[in-house]
Amino acid sequence: MIFNDNRKQAHMDICLEQDVERGNPGFDAYRLLPESLPEMTMSDALTETFFLGKRLRYPFMIASMSGGVGGEFKFNHRLARAAQKAGVALALGSLRPALEDAAYLQEYDVRHRAPDVPLLGNIAAWQLRELSVRNRLYELIDELQLDGIFVHVNVPQELIQPEGERNFDEVFHPLLAFIERCPVPVFLKAVGQGLNTAHLPRLIRAGLTGIDVAGAGGTDWVVVEALRNPTNQTLNIARDLSHLATSTADAIQDTRSQLKAIASDRGAVCVIGSGGIRTAHDMAIALGLGADLVAAALPILKAAYQSDDALDDLLAYYHNGLRHLMVACGARDLAQLRARVLAV
Ligand SMILES: Cc1cc2nc3c(=O)[nH]c(=O)nc-3n(C[C@H](O)[C@H](O)[C@H](O)COP(=O)(O)O)c2cc1C
Repeated sequence: MIFNDNRKQAHMDICLEQDVERGNPGFDAYRLLPESLPEMTMSDALTETFFLGKRLRYPFMIASMSGGVGGEFKFNHRLARAAQKAGVALALGSLRPALEDAAYLQEYDVRHRAPDVPLLGNIAAWQLRELSVRNRLYELIDELQLDGIFVHVNVPQELIQPEGERNFDEVFHPLLAFIERCPVPVFLKAVGQGLNTAHLPRLIRAGLTGIDVAGAGGTDWVVVEALRNPTNQTLNIARDLSHLATSTADAIQDTRSQLKAIASDRGAVCVIGSGGIRTAHDMAIALGLGADLVAAALPILKAAYQSDDALDDLLAYYHNGLRHLMVACGARDLAQLRARVLAV
């Protein structure tokens, strides 16, 4: 396999080969209430939903991972084929490599492989400070036929990364400008520590479409960076930073209550639940806690590196697992399933 972006290669290798999951996403504090006489058939369990005006077979998105890894493996192309087959959304990894070198663009050019599903780009908030980057992103959104874009915020990861960003000043206004001018919906996301920002009301007023909480309990990016540079100091600081993380279950509920308090007059804000989603049961609990859809990265990465069949099997399991849970709970649709989630 040929990789071109060394940092991305190291990240993917560490995620594939080492234990990068830490903490607990918090789903085990909840359960589904079963119904022994569900009065429905398997075909009554309807998992369909709409996201960015497109139909999803079930409320799932492949979370942002790759781009700029090049070579014959064509990771994003394989994810796109699988997303189209499964009828789920696909978020591409950071567009940074394509901004720096147009040769990487072909890695992100996957619309022909996934013509019917929502396809989203990704960029770090810090990079939006440059007007030329924002303008180039508007062009890329058009060229790659993206339906939306994630802006990720990952302060702890950047801090522990040897070559990471150290200046987080003067990001807010460029971010607002990007949200206001972007031709497609913009989503804000964390990368496994949970999203917490006092700036949410202003971002929502500017037109932010959604939030991916990317909470703690799944892939921990502080751990990934510490493993890439495992000195005593980085390992200790990684441990310190882990105390700041919010579990995915808490992050979904915190975000929902913050959104309620903001009482936006511009319609509903989408909440994506991710960070440690591993099973159909995790999906059901995350939906019940207030997520509109859920997303996962690490299990998808591992399955994709195994084979196309393994990836198709995993996505089929998420769908069928959800349907089985729905029948066992007497839930005909996602709204009824959400109502079956209880605190243990
Ligand atoms: C190999 C890999 C690469 C990732 N690259 C990105 C990225 O470029 N941009 C981003 O916002 N998140 C990135 N993430 C974070 C995921 O989108 C996700 O938020 C996080 O891994 C938590 O989900 P998980 O527990 O299901 O892995 C990456 C994750 C993995 C495993």
